[in-house]
Amino acid sequence: MVHTKIYTKILRPIFFKFDPEFVHDLITEVGDLLGKTPLLKDMLDFWFNYQHPMLVQDIKGIRFNNPVGLAAGFDKDARLMNILPHVGFGHQEIGSVTAKPCKGNKKPRMWRLPRYKSIVVYYGLKNPGCQAIAKKLYGKKFKLTLGISIAKTNCKETADLNVGIEDYYKSFRLLEPFGDYFTINISCPNAFGGLPFTDKKSFNELLTKLETVHTDKPIFIKMSPDLTDKELNDIIKVCDSHRVDGFVISNLSKKREDLNIPEKEFKAEFSKVGPGGLSGNLVRRKSIDMINKVYTKTEGRYIIMGVGGIFSAKDAYEMIKSGASLVQLITGMIYEGPGVIEEINRGLVKLLKKEGYNSLSEAIGAYHKTKKVTRNKIN
Ligand SMILES: Cc1cc2nc3c(=O)[nH]c(=O)nc-3n(C[C@H](O)[C@H](O)[C@H](O)COP(=O)(O)O)c2cc1C
Repeated sequence: MVHTKIYTKILRPIFFKFDPEFVHDLITEVGDLLGKTPLLKDMLDFWFNYQHPMLVQDIKGIRFNNPVGLAAGFDKDARLMNILPHVGFGHQEIGSVTAKPCKGNKKPRMWRLPRYKSIVVYYGLKNPGCQAIAKKLYGKKFKLTLGISIAKTNCKETADLNVGIEDYYKSFRLLEPFGDYFTINISCPNAFGGLPFTDKKSFNELLTKLETVHTDKPIFIKMSPDLTDKELNDIIKVCDSHRVDGFVISNLSKKREDLNIPEKEFKAEFSKVGPGGLSGNLVRRKSIDMINKVYTKTEGRYIIMGVGGIFSAKDAYEMIKSGASLVQLITGMIYEGPGVIEEINRGLVKLLKKEGYNSLSEAIGAYHKTKKVTRNKIN
């Protein structure tokens, strides 16, 4: 609480005076530096690192100390693995990583919408490429559960289906030894060629190719919150016939026409920003609706990571009761500061106790319990 107040009253007003990408790069530099400084890590542990046995889960053989992870896109270049466990995260997802290095879209490519606690993101998969990431991870052991998000290089050539599939395959094959789990990102709203893998046939070809990489590590599919019901059903159907363990729900939302913002206000707010996907408050309802849909449609067979507009324990708890086993965030940390992670974890323990649960895993999908939905299988 105190940390969040210090951040929102002092640091946030300063950060928000500068370009969002500049601040993102600066925080990454500072985080990288702190990760190399043992004394500072101990101090961060003391301030931020809240752990509780009720929050621990063993999912598909992987230990998650708590359910709150850093979503893909913040630590694109894998620079924060040494610092994130000390600010209280339970896991992190690096990337998205692509086969070739990618500069991303032209700047500016990130804007704030403070009125809605949202970010407009138009990075276009900026990252150093899978070889540079593999080199960075080689031979290292990390405290934090590590997810690697894989996308296809944002360029004209990968708009060809086979080239696009090869691109995913190359990164997955190279990075397989390094991650604890993998997320196949088929939902970047800012890449050349749109979202080709929402088509059943193309998605099936992608998963068939990825299955030739021998691995027993969990594989997740990251979905767009803008999918139609048909696209969602098709994706689930294809996953049912492959070795997919779960879904990350959801990515940024490209749609602006369904935000229910009065026209005048919309014009005033959105005229200040560029193109791109929306995060934060503007995507939360869409993410939660999709989590509920997927959990009920699949009767809890898949592990769900809930992402989109989590700012508090209440937000995280709603996702968990809707069917998420884990949650992730970026925008919550940008608006509320790193103290929000501790606040969410501490708050979750309180909410679980209040409702008579012995552990977080008991609350997963609680909204659907009366319908006798099978809970996620936790090994
Ligand atoms: C600056 C920024 C960069 C992002 N880059 C990626 C990315 O490379 N890959 C990806 O799968 N999602 C990316 N995302 C989406 C987030 O992982 C997340 O799905 C989305 O922001 C909703 O969560 P939030 O409201 O907590 O930010 C990015 C989001 C932000 C804010």
